[in-house]
Amino acid sequence: MYNIKKLPFAYQDLEPFLSTKTIATHYKKHQVNYLNNLNNLLIKNNYNFSMPLLDLYNNLSYFNIEDQSDILFNLGGVVNHELYWQSINPYQKELPKDLLLEAINNKYESLSNFQNKFNEIAKSLKGSGYVFLVKNEDKELDIVKMANQDNPLLNGQTPLFCLDMWEHAYYLNYQNNKDEYLANFWQIANFKEANDLFNEVNR
Ligand SMILES: [Fe+2]
Repeated sequence: MYNIKKLPFAYQDLEPFLSTKTIATHYKKHQVNYLNNLNNLLIKNNYNFSMPLLDLYNNLSYFNIEDQSDILFNLGGVVNHELYWQSINPYQKELPKDLLLEAINNKYESLSNFQNKFNEIAKSLKGSGYVFLVKNEDKELDIVKMANQDNPLLNGQTPLFCLDMWEHAYYLNYQNNKDEYLANFWQIANFKEANDLFNEVNR
């Protein structure tokens, strides 16, 4: 079975931006629930758990056709949260640097323009989903919104960084005030994983 990946911080560490209760519920209830559902679906399909999680995206045909959309949904629920937790951190946060900083400046002119564009796209998302920074099919940076638990890998894009826009991510702290949620997100945003992933895909 696949195991839950440890959070890179303690539940209380993102206070006051995200409360202990928000993080604990988000991780222990939502993410664990997606993981349990995914494991159960894979067991039902006699899967031997031999692949890294992300490889399941390219091997969906291995599973019964009637289970594929549920597998995709719950797989997204696991890997999207794993990337989200890497995209925030109150202590060990990093700004975009080296290749990623260069690509952001080339495409968006400045980090603050990039953040404004990211906010704009986040606010335009209808219903639940995520906003991702990706390397797209043309090998360029892009900001994309994805509904529900969809992951940009479904569109041939490599996710580097993301923000959870499901209500469970912010409602206890911000109710429906997405502007405040987004403003505070940039206080804790961490590009360490994005820098590393971008270097890796450009090697
Ligand atoms: Fe979430």
